[in-house]
Amino acid sequence: MFKLTSVAFIIASICSISTAQASEPIEVIKPAVITEPEKVELGKMLFFEPRLSMSGFISCNSCHNLSLGGVDALPTSIGHEWQEGPINSPTVLNADYMLAQFWDGRAANLKEQAAGPIDNPKEMGYTHELAVGTIASMPGYVERFKAIYGSEEVNIDRITDAIAVFEKTLVTPNSPFDKYLEGDKKAITADAQAGYQLFKDKGCVACHNGPAVGGTMYMKMGLVKPFHTDNPAVGRKGVTGKEADKFVFKVPTLRNIELTYPYFHDGSVWTLEEAVNTMADIQLGQEMSEKETKQMVDFLKSLTGEQPQIMLPILPPSNENTPRPVPFK
Ligand code: HEC
Ligand code: HEC
Repeated sequence: MFKLTSVAFIIASICSISTAQASEPIEVIKPAVITEPEKVELGKMLFFEPRLSMSGFISCNSCHNLSLGGVDALPTSIGHEWQEGPINSPTVLNADYMLAQFWDGRAANLKEQAAGPIDNPKEMGYTHELAVGTIASMPGYVERFKAIYGSEEVNIDRITDAIAVFEKTLVTPNSPFDKYLEGDKKAITADAQAGYQLFKDKGCVACHNGPAVGGTMYMKMGLVKPFHTDNPAVGRKGVTGKEADKFVFKVPTLRNIELTYPYFHDGSVWTLEEAVNTMADIQLGQEMSEKETKQMVDFLKSLTGEQPQIMLPILPPSNENTPRPVPFK
């Protein structure tokens, strides 16, 4: 009896997989396939390595905290010597699904991106030369570079390669919404289902689509009505030089959006309700009823997936050859 029902259930779910998935604008996030475990481990060490910064205090994880959905949960980040960052820190979760990296897409991929923060004076405040020297001074690292890359050489190319390979594992599969997409109609509430319908009907999916529910295109912030902000960021215009690209930003992922507040590139909005109503208003020229907003938010919360399970890496100790940190002026 038990067997019969479970077979029937499996057949039913297989049938609904094949019918449901084909036409949906949002696709399931797949678990990471790890082919280079040693490199992933090295990349993880470097991601958590505060000695890649001038102060010896700021790591990638400081602003992309994997305990907080891969963000710092601040409007804009705190950088070297407590400097105020220029823009909200986007999540590193599912970042490999983005068509390019940064709000304005100025880095083509994760490897290229990872070189940016280390020598950014407002972020880690170091130089690539010092960063390489720091890592190369520790035998615990050099052994790993040798085992993975075939020689003891430590360089920025290898450092960013390892970080990027680690970041590719930071995906969040099996969200309630993914289970729903795969045919488990009870995986999300009736309100969340209604919210998904609204997300499609109102036109949010025109910009937020694909596996990451975003990251597939650049779009103007304030398409229908202007977005008011004190933040000086100009978006894609900074990359292309074209006036038409002013305030055009990469459409952000909405995966794990419940965790990655505050919202928008200026980090000015703290609640999903306000973010949803602002989007409907300035991107689509639509007003949402209170009920619709709630349903949409319920849908967005169903996009929170399984967070990467991270075992904190133990980093090799510094020695007399390691450049000393300069935490204060
Ligand atoms: C001081 C805070 C800070 C530190 C440290 C930092 N980041 Fe970032 N990160 C940011 C901010 C802010 C942005 C957005 C900048 C922009 O778009 O102009 C960003 C963007 C990114 C993005 C792009 C995500 C996307 O969707 O566009 C990735 C990936 C990333 N950082 C990874 C890293 C890695 C890897 C490190 C360590 C080598 C690092 N970050 C260190 C604050 C930081
Ligand atoms: C015309 C394209 C477009 C449409 C339509 C659109 N969005 Fe957006 N969305 C964007 C862009 C671009 C951003 C980033 C803007 C910024 O921060 O400057 C964004 C940001 C967001 C954010 C904040 C993400 C974050 O990490 O800060 C949420 C939430 C959001 N959108 C939800 C929605 C919802 C819900 C709808 C439908 C009511 C919608 N969007 C319709 C383009 C669009």
